[in-house]
Amino acid sequence: MKYTELAPAKINLALDILRRRDDGYHDLYMIMQTVSLFDRVTLEEFEIANNKNQDRKFILETENISFPADYITLEERAAIAFFDEIKSPMPDMRVKLEKSIPAYAGLGGGSSDIAALLRLLRKIHAPDMPIKILQKIALRVSSDAPFCIQGGLAIAEGRGEILTRISPLPACWFVICKPDFGIPTPELFALADRVQFPERPDINGMIYAVQSGDLRGIANKTRNVFEYALPDTKPYRQIFEIKTKLLKSGAWGTAMSGSGPSVFGLFPDLSDANAAADILKRDFPETFVVQPCEIDTR
Ligand code: C5P
Repeated sequence: MKYTELAPAKINLALDILRRRDDGYHDLYMIMQTVSLFDRVTLEEFEIANNKNQDRKFILETENISFPADYITLEERAAIAFFDEIKSPMPDMRVKLEKSIPAYAGLGGGSSDIAALLRLLRKIHAPDMPIKILQKIALRVSSDAPFCIQGGLAIAEGRGEILTRISPLPACWFVICKPDFGIPTPELFALADRVQFPERPDINGMIYAVQSGDLRGIANKTRNVFEYALPDTKPYRQIFEIKTKLLKSGAWGTAMSGSGPSVFGLFPDLSDANAAADILKRDFPETFVVQPCEIDTR
């Protein structure tokens, strides 16, 4: 039997870093939204006798990423943590990832794949498990995974795991554009530790704008303090060039998502979003037009 679950990308409408903690993580204050760009996660569980690859209990298949034989992937760690929680032996399993979300992009693709796998395991093995417990398991492998379990629109605090759902965004579209380089998240946090941010995102103001259904107010407050920590070199400058292009094409607000390098623009109008994406695609093939989306966690 095969089970499939969609894993949506996330964007950070606003991201503030409050402080570095003693455990090496940072306390964050963010507004996060899942969007309609999806990986597909397929899970197949085996009776032990049917598993031809006897020495491997967990097989992860992806199109373009391969793992050393002795490497324990985050997906496998999540599955181990899940069966540990329900105190049940872990069956042999094969997990297939069909990726559409660019990796190492600030779009939460890896965390969302893990979250989708955990939702599948819950559906199959523990349908009564509260979502909060699934999120606690998810946090053992990634700070963004608890949000990716529930999706929708949320305020995220702490490492990203203290979540408060807020009312959905007014109708809008996002153009997401990923330049062709990656930034290791820990490195960018280290750079941010050394920078005095000239301005802080008005996250409380954004929450108020969300509650008032004020799309212009939301768009005016899209900010990511990681942008202040980016080195002033050619590849990183592309981030600001993309933001300028998005604004010129009619975006009401723009920001880098997470630790980048993806940038999003918020559009009230689908035709403007499509036109902006067409322009950006000439230089950046990994450009997408998406909408906010929810996850059904029943
Ligand atoms: O939790 P995750 O493994 O995805 O985080 C990757 C890295 O990002 C961490 O090792 C840490 O260096 C940094 N991080 C952080 N504070 C957070 C989340 C992540 O410093 N709240």
